[in-house]
Amino acid sequence: MSGTIQNLFVTPVWRGPAGGRDPDVLRAELLEACLLLAEEDGAGRRWCREHGYPGYTSYASLNDLPRRMPPFADLAKRLDRQVASFSAACGHDLAGRKLRLDSLWVNVMPRGGIHTGHIHPHAVVSGTYYVQIPDGAAALKLEDPRLPMMMAQPARNPDAAIQLQPFVFLAPTEGEAILWESWLRHEVVMNRSRAPRISISFNYAWG
Ligand SMILES: [Fe+2]
Repeated sequence: MSGTIQNLFVTPVWRGPAGGRDPDVLRAELLEACLLLAEEDGAGRRWCREHGYPGYTSYASLNDLPRRMPPFADLAKRLDRQVASFSAACGHDLAGRKLRLDSLWVNVMPRGGIHTGHIHPHAVVSGTYYVQIPDGAAALKLEDPRLPMMMAQPARNPDAAIQLQPFVFLAPTEGEAILWESWLRHEVVMNRSRAPRISISFNYAWG
């Protein structure tokens, strides 16, 4: 084929370590904190039970984890830097303001747990830090945001380049963070690990 193809309208996704010193110490402290919350956050446990949420999340019960427990404050500080770099790489014009941590919550997902597709409204950058990823732990599934417009388009060849695939599965590793723009639809497919899959998700908002 003559001429050139440009790949336009990209969907940036970043993955890498949370940054800072002694990442294994931080991860161990976060693991302890997550397990403690899953044990002792009665309001959160009740919410999960009443809403059929598999395992535990602090999403509906605790909105101040960085003020409540130092390891979450430490993680937030590290994420602030990564999110600022990611936002710059996305070309955001923040008009002199910063993206700020808006919410941060714990997810303890048992075997068989699932988190169906969703976006994070009212945020600019969202992401997850992975605390415990045992063998068989579920991947993060990302979805091409243009799918609703693809009425007559043929399926993509499975061996087509990753940027052409309608779904991309990222298998996270422990201590890793993944960042994306908050409009990107994502889900956690069924978890098959014996021990719980433990992660900390967060939203950064503008202003
Ligand atoms: Fe999410």
